[in-house]
Amino acid sequence: MEGMEQLIGESAALAIRPCEPADGAGVRALHDRTPPAGSLAGGFPQQWPDDLNRIPEVFLAFWVVTTERDGVQEIVGMAGVKAVDDEVPLDLFPGAGDRKRMIRLLRMRVAPEWRRRGIGSRLVETVVAWARESGYRSVILETTMEQEPAVALYRRHRFVEIGRSALERYTLVCMRHDLD
Ligand SMILES: CC(C)(COP(=O)(O)OP(=O)(O)OC[C@H]1O[C@@H](n2cnc3c(N)ncnc32)[C@H](O)[C@@H]1OP(=O)(O)O)[C@@H](O)C(=O)NCCC(=O)NCCS
Repeated sequence: MEGMEQLIGESAALAIRPCEPADGAGVRALHDRTPPAGSLAGGFPQQWPDDLNRIPEVFLAFWVVTTERDGVQEIVGMAGVKAVDDEVPLDLFPGAGDRKRMIRLLRMRVAPEWRRRGIGSRLVETVVAWARESGYRSVILETTMEQEPAVALYRRHRFVEIGRSALERYTLVCMRHDLD
């Protein structure tokens, strides 16, 4: 999880960098106030996934987008990648391919007041560039059709649908981006 801090767009205060151990509280705060769009937002704060307690152990790479307010750094975006292990039900997604040649994008979150400013795009681009440099052939992810901003973001970045299944009252969709 190395890398230079980089600026996003023209804002000197907004930066993307690898997650650090000290970011735990900021990651939690962002997650808690960033339920998925649409009807998936059942409880508030939403359920806390255990993998966010063990980011260095569980994720191959994890990035945060930060801004500064009154001299205090705040995390306003995040995303990570994991290996495609046996937990991923690839049998639901016949077009997926070889597990070892792809990585899985997850925990994509942008703070509500920072949306539609390109942070999600920057996170996707960072993941795709990392995957390419790391020798993977594709990036896969799962979302739901009800998370319309997420589906729109991924489609814009050339993720294509490779399978759907029912998840309670939602439609789970698996998408794949093939690296050139
Ligand atoms: C999905 C999410 C990460 C997008 O982040 P973002 O920073 O707002 O995305 P961007 O500003 O980079 O948007 C890039 C493009 O995605 C599409 N897009 C993003 N949000 C959209 C929306 N609400 N409606 C339609 N298109 C949207 C657009 O094409 C957009 O480009 P444009 O603004 O030039 O039209 C954010 O809405 C979010 O955190 N949602 C809640 C958590 C979630 O559902 N995460 C996904 C888990 S799988």
